[in-house]
Amino acid sequence: MAHELSPTTLKILNILNDCEVHTGSDMAEYLGISRTAVWKVIQRLKQYNCDIKSQHQGYVLGAPLIPFDRNKIEDFIESSNVSLEIFESVSSTNDYLKNKVSLQNIQGCLAEYQSKGRGRMGRSWVSPFGRNIYCSLGYVLHKDISELSGLSLVVGILIARALELLDQRIKPLLKWPNDIYLNNKKAGGILIDIIAEANGSCRVILGIGLNINMKDIELEDVEKPWISLEDILGVKLDRNLVVAQLINSIVKGMEDFVEKGIEPFLEQWKRYDLLENRHISLSTGVETLSGMGKGISQQGYLLLELPSGEVRKISSGDTTLLKT
Ligand code: BTN
Repeated sequence: MAHELSPTTLKILNILNDCEVHTGSDMAEYLGISRTAVWKVIQRLKQYNCDIKSQHQGYVLGAPLIPFDRNKIEDFIESSNVSLEIFESVSSTNDYLKNKVSLQNIQGCLAEYQSKGRGRMGRSWVSPFGRNIYCSLGYVLHKDISELSGLSLVVGILIARALELLDQRIKPLLKWPNDIYLNNKKAGGILIDIIAEANGSCRVILGIGLNINMKDIELEDVEKPWISLEDILGVKLDRNLVVAQLINSIVKGMEDFVEKGIEPFLEQWKRYDLLENRHISLSTGVETLSGMGKGISQQGYLLLELPSGEVRKISSGDTTLLKT
């Protein structure tokens, strides 16, 4: 069930953030609410596997976290066209927006925790509480689906640009079609859902998962080696600033995409292309091919040079870097 991030939850998290023991009655008195109200919030947070322990008749948070805070995010967002909903828990930010019919503005959905986060190719996206960014932006585009090829590459470029602006030590690369890599490890991914509307337009949900403050946790069920911004920068980041930076970059860049399509982005892809001249394996779901990455086509398809010398244009699939 979707649960909005309430001011009370935010305040409780901010109290617990010093990682000292706080009793339910102290917090209740401080916040001017009942002990039961505090208890309910704590129980919910525990359900999301938030690292809160009961100790000496109080509660203690295992490691500090910087919760999402609407005021901070909205202070940084440049566009007034984004209506943002922030949840402490939702099944998936993409699914939430898919089920929400709105024809106005850019719909934004952000969550501290996803119970059924989705990745590409039917995989799940493990979404621990309060650590990362799970964000979706919903657009109504007056375009045919055929005009959207390459959109996921564009979103990747816009995320990479936002990360570079955040800190020069962040050097993002993109693994076609849309994985965000730092130091040869996956730091994030993009999931795009497209819903065709009867009037020839379509609703597009841009879902972004980005690892931010994950240095000190172990994740089960995640296969590939992963990395977070905290690993690169050595400090916990204020996710409010990061998410606002991402939204600013995407909103601005999408204006270009809507007007001009992928063309203005083709040159920039080269700057971030992890696969250029690297040996890769590609799985299309039907077949697995290996060859050398040779950039992308005008439509954003992967150019794969096979051992025979033939260059194939690949419209969708999953790529893996091969060790050489
Ligand atoms: C991938 O690399 O497989 C794509 C991962 C996309 C994850 C994000 S998190 C926010 C949005 N909601 C989801 O359920 N998935 C995307």
